[in-house]
Amino acid sequence: MVAVHTAEPGAPGELAERFEAVVAAEQRVEPRDWMPDAYRATLIRQIAQHAHSEIIGMQPEGNWLTRAPSLRRKAILLAKAQDEAGHGLYLYAAAETLGVDRAELTEKLISGRQKYSSIFNYPTLTFADVGVIGWLVDGAAICNQVPLCRCSYGPYARAMVRICKEESFHQRQGFELLMTLMRGTEAQQRMVQDAVDRWWWPSLMMFGPPDDDSPNTAQSMAWRIKRHTNDELRQRFVDMTLPQAQHLGVTLPDPELSWNEARGSWDFGEPDWSELQRVIKGQGPCNTQRIDRRRAAHEQGTWVREAAAAYASKRATAGKQATASKEKESDV
Ligand SMILES: [Fe+2]
Ligand SMILES: [Fe+2]
Repeated sequence: MVAVHTAEPGAPGELAERFEAVVAAEQRVEPRDWMPDAYRATLIRQIAQHAHSEIIGMQPEGNWLTRAPSLRRKAILLAKAQDEAGHGLYLYAAAETLGVDRAELTEKLISGRQKYSSIFNYPTLTFADVGVIGWLVDGAAICNQVPLCRCSYGPYARAMVRICKEESFHQRQGFELLMTLMRGTEAQQRMVQDAVDRWWWPSLMMFGPPDDDSPNTAQSMAWRIKRHTNDELRQRFVDMTLPQAQHLGVTLPDPELSWNEARGSWDFGEPDWSELQRVIKGQGPCNTQRIDRRRAAHEQGTWVREAAAAYASKRATAGKQATASKEKESDV
């Protein structure tokens, strides 16, 4: 049994009570409000992991930017990768409101001390993977993220509203790409089926371990950071995706999938949780490649960060001088 508490032992009573009342009334906790240390630490870990996932998530699809089959597909893919960069920036900004520095979070990512979603450690072997990532990976992200628009922490909840709108657009573009391929040649249809076969189980694992192996869920739900358990969200994703798979004409690689009339939901097989553990521990097919690439990009971007900081301090000095001379004028 997980101990659920919303107040710190020894926390200033009135402040802790106010925090609990705000959470219970479905209002938002804002950056300047008092909050329990553990609530802050949980949010920093979750938002950072989410931001890292957006940034690392640009890599598998970015792999196809130079090989997109048409200018139209290239423009769509480029726009999507840019959206993901934007999501990362909103989320790093949301994390900074909790008192951490973005540079510190990046350092933790590239030194392997903070994680990102396990899904981005799988390779993209064909252009159909781009469609399947949009359909399944962005689809799973939407299931996970729509409830976060009601998260008790204001800056995170507000960032999620815009992110979810864009994710839903990504999902539709992925589906449209797959529909186009499925109307194509037999080879194109086989390419889609192969990509679905490879991405289905990793997509189910995006919701995290099963509930009885997810010790932080109860506390996150008590704080109204999280609204549904991993298994509830996974079920919602399966129920949402099945009719879409039928419409596409692809088979999902799970012989246990069957409609359960009594539950009004689809029954499905158990993912290989040992695979999830391996990928989380860094032994997925692309873990090393993803982090090496991120580290190299960070190092190559040093001069840009230095130039931006120099420009900002120059502007700040110029601003101070302008204010000082205005004050002098008004003294005269
Ligand atoms: Fe995103
Ligand atoms: Fe996306």
